[in-house]
Amino acid sequence: MEARQIGVTGATGGLGGRVAARLADRGIPQRLLVRDATRAPDLPDAEVATFGGYDDAEGARRALEGVETLFLVSAAEDRDRVALHTRMVDAVVAAGVGRIVYTSFVGAAPDCTFTFGRDHFHTEEHIKATGVGHTFLRDNLYIDFMPLLCGPDGVIRGPAGDGQVAAVARDDIAEVAAVVLTGPDHDGDSYDLTGPEAFSLAEAAEELSRASGRLVTYEEETVEEAYASRRPSGAPEFELDGWVSTYTAIAAGELEATSDCVARFLDRDPIGLGDWLREHPESYRHLLSQA
Ligand SMILES: NC(=O)c1ccc[n+]([C@@H]2O[C@H](COP(=O)([O-])OP(=O)(O)OC[C@H]3O[C@@H](n4cnc5c(N)ncnc54)[C@H](OP(=O)(O)O)[C@@H]3O)[C@@H](O)[C@H]2O)c1
Repeated sequence: MEARQIGVTGATGGLGGRVAARLADRGIPQRLLVRDATRAPDLPDAEVATFGGYDDAEGARRALEGVETLFLVSAAEDRDRVALHTRMVDAVVAAGVGRIVYTSFVGAAPDCTFTFGRDHFHTEEHIKATGVGHTFLRDNLYIDFMPLLCGPDGVIRGPAGDGQVAAVARDDIAEVAAVVLTGPDHDGDSYDLTGPEAFSLAEAAEELSRASGRLVTYEEETVEEAYASRRPSGAPEFELDGWVSTYTAIAAGELEATSDCVARFLDRDPIGLGDWLREHPESYRHLLSQA
């Protein structure tokens, strides 16, 4: 395989796919590390390397040959996500990659309210401990998922109280990632990536109403009600913990801080919820069909 400076994981997904597209727009050669080559995006000057996923250390080492900087997307929610990440990071280091740009989460800490945020803390710590060059993009919740908080009945339910969330668009994260991957001077840095302002879920409901023309409301649930309403999905307990703690993290004020990182990197304001919804009517189609 030809030496490629930049490798991108998660290229079959929403964030990694956007990052790969932006690198291609800039004419940057890249290697896409994917589990299924048939689902890899077809981009100019992008070669595709398959591996078995983050628990396939041998495959990852082979796929990373010659890569200097890796965009490492966090794995899908998994009970053993930290172990998966740890194995992948070790393989990345063994392959001789010089820098990992990892997609983390705002406020990642061993005891942060959002339980999936704890995985990111432990992953960051492991990356640091290996001594590999690194940059952490600590993303807030994706704006892209705000419409999905709303059920087909037009109600957002959860124990978020009046707390606010400074959600950020994946398009903005991807543009920042492209700058960080291709520029010098980010080694050892962590960047909080947020939208332009924080909003409560009641305010998110108002924005969804404005965009869709259908009344959307927010109804507070207790934590017990939140577990009870989500349990019929059959999701395992760790997943329910993650879902419910998304709301309790908002209630605790842990997702409300805004940062100027997106504006500093892109020389423009990050996109806010209202503008994003206007540009993405497909994101709330599930509300219109049920109206
Ligand atoms: N900040 C937030 O609001 C938020 C919300 C949801 C998720 N996230 C995190 O951010 C990540 C990226 O978001 P996204 O929107 O791009 O998610 P996405 O569209 O579901 O894509 C996830 C990508 O990661 C790959 N992937 C997942 N687990 C993997 C594993 N064990 N080994 C190798 N590749 C793996 C997937 O590959 P395949 O196509 O082969 O499955 C896919 O390309 C998610 O994976 C999740 O950790 C953040």
